[in-house]
Amino acid sequence: MASTTQQHRRAMAVVLAVLLTAKASPMAMRAAAAAATAAGGCEGDKFPAGRSYAHCAALPKLGARLHWTHDSKTGSLSVAFVAKPGGAGGAGWVSWAINPTGDGMKGAQALVAFRASPAAPYAVNTYNITGYKPFGASSTAIAFRATDLAAEAAAAGEVRLYGRLQLAPGTEVVNHIWQVGSAVTAGAPAKHAFDKDNLEAKGKLALSGAALAPAPAASAGGASAGKGGSAGGEAAPSGAKPSAAATAAAAPVLMLLALAAGFMATV
Ligand SMILES: *[C@@H]1O[C@H](CO)[C@@H](O)[C@H](O)[C@H]1NC(C)=O
Repeated sequence: MASTTQQHRRAMAVVLAVLLTAKASPMAMRAAAAAATAAGGCEGDKFPAGRSYAHCAALPKLGARLHWTHDSKTGSLSVAFVAKPGGAGGAGWVSWAINPTGDGMKGAQALVAFRASPAAPYAVNTYNITGYKPFGASSTAIAFRATDLAAEAAAAGEVRLYGRLQLAPGTEVVNHIWQVGSAVTAGAPAKHAFDKDNLEAKGKLALSGAALAPAPAASAGGASAGKGGSAGGEAAPSGAKPSAAATAAAAPVLMLLALAAGFMATV
């Protein structure tokens, strides 16, 4: 009698497991995964008093994180980029850029944090990247008004780069690209490594903080970049704080998991 009941319960468990698998759509699974990543990805970053940001994302390459606050009405974008320079003992530089005309390095409008000499404080230069040419020691004009530029050493050899960019009002999605380099030579950031991670450190960023659905073949960048976060690209910020939509999508999965846990407890 008891064994029949047990068999019955086991069968139910299998049915439930199958149901769970079927119900957990890839999208909901991704949303749940993104929410899980966020917990350990960027939310632990601490900033000095007076610096706080509405969104953050653990970027998929180079261990970097981006925090930002965006006012889509005015186009003001305030960012904090956190990464570890490529060199030993904190030597080198870190950079975060928006590319308004493409999705690679060429055309990127970059903020670069570095120390001109080991004894100098961190400073931020702007560079209009026109190709694979070395940076100079001085800033070059970029397409966005850049203010509040600052940088500082943080824990664990990381550097925090701060700045505010004036984007076109209404900008919702940008192509961004980030980088770290291991050396500063003659007061200028030297060439970075060309490892896979260095070359793949780029993606699309939805300024609303929503995760972008991976969808190939969307047109890149600029004013034509999609609305509502549907402008594809591989690099939905993997650790974006879960948006309301992502949380809603994850809810059925969590509910089923809770149901399953409850059911298992009774078996
Ligand atoms: C950046 O460089 C490109 C290529 O030389 C040039 O067309 C563009 O006007 C420059 N942007 C700024 C803001 O100077």
